[in-house]
Amino acid sequence: MEPVLDTGVVVDCVLADGHERTLADDVLDGLTRPLKELPPKHFYDTRGSELFDAICELPEYYPTRTERAILDACAAEIVATTGAGELVELGSGSARKTRVLLTAMADAGTLQRYVPVDVSEAALRESAARLVEEYPGLRVHGLVGDFERHLGLLPEPDASRLMCFLGGTIGNFPPGSRRRFLRGLAKRLGTEGHLLLGVDLVKDPLMIEAAYDDAAGITAEFNRNVLRVLNRELGADFDVDAFEHVAFFDTEREWVEMRLRARSRQTVTVPALALTVEFAPREELRTEISVKFTRSRLEADLAAAGMELAGWFTDEREWFATALARPI
Ligand SMILES: C[S@@+](CC[C@H](N)C(=O)[O-])C[C@H]1O[C@@H](n2cnc3c(N)ncnc32)[C@H](O)[C@@H]1O
Repeated sequence: MEPVLDTGVVVDCVLADGHERTLADDVLDGLTRPLKELPPKHFYDTRGSELFDAICELPEYYPTRTERAILDACAAEIVATTGAGELVELGSGSARKTRVLLTAMADAGTLQRYVPVDVSEAALRESAARLVEEYPGLRVHGLVGDFERHLGLLPEPDASRLMCFLGGTIGNFPPGSRRRFLRGLAKRLGTEGHLLLGVDLVKDPLMIEAAYDDAAGITAEFNRNVLRVLNRELGADFDVDAFEHVAFFDTEREWVEMRLRARSRQTVTVPALALTVEFAPREELRTEISVKFTRSRLEADLAAAGMELAGWFTDEREWFATALARPI
């Protein structure tokens, strides 16, 4: 772990060697299953992070602007309730919406430190550099790492901690591991800490599907980007254009899935793993699930993780919610 010092910024980078190993393990595990699967964290190389930012601007992608409007309306109340002086953000990305929280903390006179955690080093460093300029006196301690594996390396809280996990990313976990993950977060909040979760809500499936399959094809590019990551990092030889983007809402499980469907028979080699993978025509590779929530589903998850709801903020159409939680 090597801290790199910029003005006001410390970045601990813990991915370096271990990361490729995780990618290799995930590929070996995921591409040899009956339903082939890859975890969504591997979308986010520099290009993947840029594509995600472009998705956030799309007319079909309602979550970003809806969550931002909710935060605009409730940030001051959240800061007053929590007295937060430190903001830890999981999957911080370009940290655009984060500014709403940081500004509310600055206005309340509590803002001390921001701790972003992301696998995307470029996105984290860029946002950290911008934020110390925008918020004079702010200290940033970033962690380039995997929030599923590296939260033990977070710095100790140095003020009342607010941990946020925005954008509905919690929906990428299937139910069992979601609760396990939330239990782990509860332990990192400190005695007075709170958790702020952005959750996308159950709604018209057509609207959800459009958000994951935009007319301009940016989400399709984002989805296929994971194959480019495998080609570059593991020397795989995926013909990226031979896979089409698929997004559908599973009404029983209430989650949306993104998949890549082979347009024709494909044989792919992954030399780094001495692996050959066959895709039958129209065979699909699942690349993401995104669970849609109800208030009661989230309350049950929080209870299973030793937390309770301390605030529930939503837009008037109830498309998205920002949930404030605290350990019981
Ligand atoms: C859906 S984007 C959300 C970005 C931003 N928080 C927002 O609300 O717009 C998910 C972010 O989490 C990061 N990410 C995904 N899986 C991760 C993991 N396992 N550990 C750390 N960061 C991860 C990605 O790099 C990306 O920046």
